[in-house]
Amino acid sequence: MGGLRPPGAPGSPLPEVIDELWERRAELTPADAQARAAVVSAVDAIDAGQARVAYVDPGTDEVVVDERAKRAILLAFRVLPMARSQVGDFRYEDRVPLKTRLDGVRVLPGAIARWGSFIAPGTVLMPSFVNIGAYVDEGTMVDTWATVGSGAQIGKNVHLSGGVGIGGVLEPPNAVPVVVEDEAMVGSRCMVVGGARVRRGATLGAGAILTPTTHVIDVETGAELPRGEAPPWSVCVGGTRPRAFPGGEFGLPCLLVLKRLPEGSRHDKSALNAILRDHGVDA
Ligand SMILES: CC(C)(COP(=O)(O)OP(=O)(O)OC[C@H]1O[C@@H](n2cnc3c(N)ncnc32)[C@H](O)[C@@H]1OP(=O)(O)O)[C@@H](O)C(=O)NCCC(=O)NCCS
Repeated sequence: MGGLRPPGAPGSPLPEVIDELWERRAELTPADAQARAAVVSAVDAIDAGQARVAYVDPGTDEVVVDERAKRAILLAFRVLPMARSQVGDFRYEDRVPLKTRLDGVRVLPGAIARWGSFIAPGTVLMPSFVNIGAYVDEGTMVDTWATVGSGAQIGKNVHLSGGVGIGGVLEPPNAVPVVVEDEAMVGSRCMVVGGARVRRGATLGAGAILTPTTHVIDVETGAELPRGEAPPWSVCVGGTRPRAFPGGEFGLPCLLVLKRLPEGSRHDKSALNAILRDHGVDA
């Protein structure tokens, strides 16, 4: 999850004017040309990968959020006018244009990426949706009907399988974006939302749900692990845990850690997906 923020860099690479505009956001409109120019330039830096909404600090392993980058994105919705764009005969009417910086990215018809998302060369976009502020790093596959929410941070060589839903930070507003670290494999139709974190090399079984408060249980030991995180180099599936309520005992969803993988190794089924991807097949 290195990204282009120099490790340990203090503050935001974006200019302070964004904070000033944020303070008077209520009065801004698309007619304010100066504000619009400043916001467009900031979001364009995010689009180019020169700034990002969040990154993992390699020293502390903490997710560092650039509030200014989030503000720039929210301000874009205030200062950009509605505009029409077109793909073939199909028309869009929106404030945020489609992304045009897609060098080195394989993009299939039906894929949508909004300006202000960063998509590194060597990624594959099947018919999927990548929202503003999202960061998708090299070698990652965004499979069919996967959605990458605003500000979500996806690492290198990740597989977001068919129909995966990665939540965003804008709607509803969340403090910390979802982070999926390098080499992770997120199985079909998983939902990872609200600042949950999939650690390096983790495999999430199809249909797993991970929110910041999801209980994570190691089935070997029964230990409760940090909530809202799929541990590194693990294989996890959605499960249930018993929970007592006044009306009786019911099962609530949880994430079960089924296996631990040797660091650097891939689960054999996700290795198969990698082979299929190398040959351009939608796994
Ligand atoms: C989680 C997964 C990686 C486990 O694979 P595995 O290591 O071979 O493990 P198994 O299939 O032997 O499953 C182990 C147990 O977990 C259960 N299980 C497997 N996948 C599950 C899932 N997604 N959710 C809940 N339980 C699951 C199995 O029923 C099995 O239970 P059992 O031991 O009582 O029989 C795999 O099942 C999976 O979901 N892969 C993702 C597939 C996918 O989405 N591909 C992308 C296509 S675009």
